[in-house]
Amino acid sequence: MPDSVDQLAARLLSSSAKNSYDPELDIDWAAPVDDFPDAPFLPFEHVSLYGTALWDGLSHRQRIELSKHELASVASTGLWFEIVLMHLLARYAYDEDPQAPSTQYALTEIGDETRHVIMFAHAVARMGVPTYRPARLIHNLARVYKATARGTAMFAPILLAEEITDRLQRLTMNDESIHPLVRMVNRIHVVEEARHVRFARAEVAARAGRSGPLVRLLSNTVAAVVGAVIADALIHPDVYVAVGLDPRTARRAARENPHHQRSRRFLAARIMSFLAEQGMVRGPARVIYRRAHLI
Ligand SMILES: [Fe+2]
Ligand SMILES: [Fe+2]
Repeated sequence: MPDSVDQLAARLLSSSAKNSYDPELDIDWAAPVDDFPDAPFLPFEHVSLYGTALWDGLSHRQRIELSKHELASVASTGLWFEIVLMHLLARYAYDEDPQAPSTQYALTEIGDETRHVIMFAHAVARMGVPTYRPARLIHNLARVYKATARGTAMFAPILLAEEITDRLQRLTMNDESIHPLVRMVNRIHVVEEARHVRFARAEVAARAGRSGPLVRLLSNTVAAVVGAVIADALIHPDVYVAVGLDPRTARRAARENPHHQRSRRFLAARIMSFLAEQGMVRGPARVIYRRAHLI
């Protein structure tokens, strides 16, 4: 591992020791969730149907309900990807020297993600929403991805998933109009994710551009496909059933919704400009990111 990554990892390890959370104890899980009937779970402008004719047809109560299911879907898909990430990081640690700070940080990150997965699962359960799972095919393809991905093909999609959700969580954690349970969970997640993002960015920066053109093309394309699949899986079509809409029709309306496309580009803007600086948004990757409305 390059020295620059190890130096950063050493700093991240000491910051993790000083500033980490145990959501089991740090969140008041007994606090009543139903006491805030008028608080949305996501800002309305980031709900997938916002601005469409279907949205106009929903009552205020249904809009809040849809925001709850979309947030729960993002949390469920997010925790699914955190489990994928744990496997990737465990494989990374398997190959590296356990005495190296970078290996120890990867192991620390697995610990963080273990707590996050349980925290998100608790939060979704408190909202009274079932776990939304990605489609069976994606679930099974991810099996192959997490068993084989390495280098930038491993770290770039991690970054994309982490930075998109991070931007959404930063937006809501201090917004008093958003449901307090969501703000509490987001505040904890943002602190620990900030370290994960720095580590993954350092890894991408250290590795991008080092391999030959063919491997680079392949890694960039795999990273883009995985990134687009995750971005697409964040909102499960069944969320629309919760407000009495046909999932196929509503999903199509969301995909074609310029507000939703703008929201996606906004949430991905920072990470996409970083990946572009690393030369990872070219050729087929660029087409894939554009079609996924990430650029
Ligand atoms: Fe996390
Ligand atoms: Fe993370």
